[in-house]
Order: sequence, then C-alpha cells, then structure tokens
Amino acid sequence: MEDRNNQLLQHIHFSIPDIGQTRPVVIIGAGGIVETAHLPAYRLANIPVRGIVDLDKPKAEKIAAAFNIPPQYDRLEEMVNDNGCDCIYDIAVPGKNTGEILAKLPDKCFALIQKPIGENIEQAEEILAICRKKNITAGVNFQLRYAPYILMAKQMIAEGLLGDICDFEIYVNVYTPWHLWGFLYGAPRVEILYHSIHYIDLVRNMLGMPRNIIAKTTRHPGMKQLQDVKSNIIMDYGDFIRAGISTNHTHNFGMQHQDAYIKIEGTDGAIKIKLGLLMNYPKGIEDSFEYIIAGENPLEWKSLPVHGSWFPHAFIGSMHEIIKAQKDIISRPDNSVEDCIDTMRLTEHAYKGS
Ligand SMILES: NC(=O)c1ccc[n+]([C@@H]2O[C@H](COP(=O)([O-])OP(=O)(O)OC[C@H]3O[C@@H](n4cnc5c(N)ncnc54)[C@H](O)[C@@H]3O)[C@@H](O)[C@H]2O)c1
Repeated sequence: MEDRNNQLLQHIHFSIPDIGQTRPVVIIGAGGIVETAHLPAYRLANIPVRGIVDLDKPKAEKIAAAFNIPPQYDRLEEMVNDNGCDCIYDIAVPGKNTGEILAKLPDKCFALIQKPIGENIEQAEEILAICRKKNITAGVNFQLRYAPYILMAKQMIAEGLLGDICDFEIYVNVYTPWHLWGFLYGAPRVEILYHSIHYIDLVRNMLGMPRNIIAKTTRHPGMKQLQDVKSNIIMDYGDFIRAGISTNHTHNFGMQHQDAYIKIEGTDGAIKIKLGLLMNYPKGIEDSFEYIIAGENPLEWKSLPVHGSWFPHAFIGSMHEIIKAQKDIISRPDNSVEDCIDTMRLTEHAYKGS
C-alpha cells in the first residue's frame, strides 16, 4: 500500500498546461490586480494581450508600456469595434461596473470577469441575465480553485489518497492593509464579499453546494471607515463533514501569531497548505504544502514542493477555462457565471444571516 501511495505521490505536482495557440486577450481596467496578477500570469502562460482600456487612460498607458501591450484605446467602444469577437474580453473593474461593460460587448463573445459578480445578488443576477441574453460565454475569476497547491490537493483527493473528505478548515489571522483597495472604503460589504468569497467558492467547488451557510461578520473599532473585516462562516454539509472559514484581517500584533492555512482532512489522510502570501502582506512569506497518510510508518507529515502560488499562477487557470471553452475543448468553463452565481447566492445568504 505504501509503495502504491509513494508512486501516486510522485505525480502530484503543478505545471503550467500547454493549451496551444489562443485568441488574444483585451483587458478592461488597468488597476492593481491586472498589473500584479493578470498580466504576470498571461506572461507565464504565453497568453497574448492585444490591448487595454481604462477610464483613466494614463494608467492604461503605463501598464501597456510595462508589459509591451500594443495599441491603446481611448474608449471601450473603440476596443470593441477593433476586436469584435476575435478576442477574449478580460474585465477587471469594481463589480458594480461589470454589467454596463458586458452590455457593450458583442453578442456571442467570450469573457472573463473579475469577482465578485456585482456587489450583491441583484447585480449578479443582472450580469447573468446580460450574458444569457447576449449569448456571451463568461467565466469568473474565482481563481483560488486553480492555485497550484489546490490543484495538487485535488489530484491527491482524486487518487483516493485522503479517503472520504470529512473536514475542511480555512483559517486566516493576519494584518491586511485594506487601504491598498481604495474602493472598499464606503463599500457596504467588505470581508466576505471581497475576501472570504474565495474560500466559499473553493469549498463549494470541491464539496458541492452546502445545505446551508451560517455566518457572523464583524467590524473593527479602529477601522470605522470600513464595514466587515473579520468573519466566521460555517458551511453545512450534514453530520459527517465540518466545513468552516475563520478570518481576522486586523491582527496588527507582529508576525509571531499571524497564520493562514487551508486544512483538508479525509478518513485516510490530510493536507495542510500554508497561504504564505496573506501573511506579512503584501510582501508575503513562503507557502507550503504538507500532507500525511494514515497507516504509514512512521506516521509523519511530509512536504511537497509547490511551483507557483495563488498570485499570479492561479489566474492562468481562470483564463484557461475561457480559452478552452472558446476552442471547444470543453462545453462550458468550470468557472462559468452560471456556476459561480451559486457562490454569490451563498455570500448573500451569509450576509443576510449575519
Ligand atoms: N480575484 C482576485 O483575487 C482579486 C483580487 C483583487 C481585486 N479583484 C477584483 O478586481 C477588480 C479590480 O480591482 P483592482 O484592485 O484592480 O482595483 P483598482 O481600483 O486598482 O482598479 C480598477 C480600475 O478599473 C477602472 N475602471 C472602472 N470602471 C471602468 C470602466 N467602466 N471602464 C474602464 N475602466 C474602468 C478604474 O479606472 C481603475 O483603474 C475588483 O472587482 C476587485 O474585486 C480580484
């Protein structure tokens, strides 16, 4: 048995898949996430970028120069006229602006939109309706699903190395410099909508839709300009699976007790992934991937190397889903708006309950 496990474990790794020639990407929104994650990811995966537009043109020009992106557009309409459906639209603007952009895209095009899908369930439903009406194949950048260590965990689970999954825990106790995202000041919802939503999506992606979600999200007395910055979330999968998310982004007390991990336990083994990126943010520390298999002698935690991280590598996976759908390799992106709207429904339910 141990030999079989060792053989299987040799194949658990992350590498960037080669999906061949792709249509070029054109980007709407030249903000922080495009500069630090989208464009570095596309560079790693050889995904060509043909243009970028932003309401703030100098911002778009600066990023275009840094990443060798060709002609610049003054307006979205120009970008659409120039590219039609011969591209993939990559929309990375605040959620409340996504719908108006989709409405201006050509029918039957392919698009990736940044999470969240609008700022609440009404906006999410409206975005879904626009995609359906215009026959746009759109996916959502819930990219934690495709982070290298998550893909490795999924491989281990698929090989049966963990047995039946019975415990899924996400724990974050860090100091997050929220001021880096100016649009969050004054936003009616913050922590779950902009951060824990990734974990809700991940758990749902791996365990399916829960029966219920229960949450309490709280503010911080020293951060009155912001709404929720800490959350406790329970996803109810019945009597035999515990799934919980606990986040505190206001631990401004040095590094000693900062921590951020995803722990998945099964009947035969467990995985613990350290989300180093979230600690000492934005510098981060190293991630790690540890696992243990029941019955092995000696029974001990071991490590696997992880080649890549959540940012930027996971962003390759989100875009690859759209490219694969556009190339008819799959019938629908795994991260389609149709699928991801369930993450928005759970998020809405979490806020209503809280
Ligand atoms: N998936 C993730 O992990 C992740 C991480 C960070 C941010 N995000 C999301 O990405 C989006 C952008 O975040 P950011 O940090 O880059 O914000 P940002 O404020 O740095 O940039 C947003 C940019 O969008 C531009 N913009 C807004 N409306 C526009 C429009 N109609 N047309 C063209 N440009 C427009 C703004 O001028 C700005 O430059 C947000 O929705 C955020 O939630 C996702």
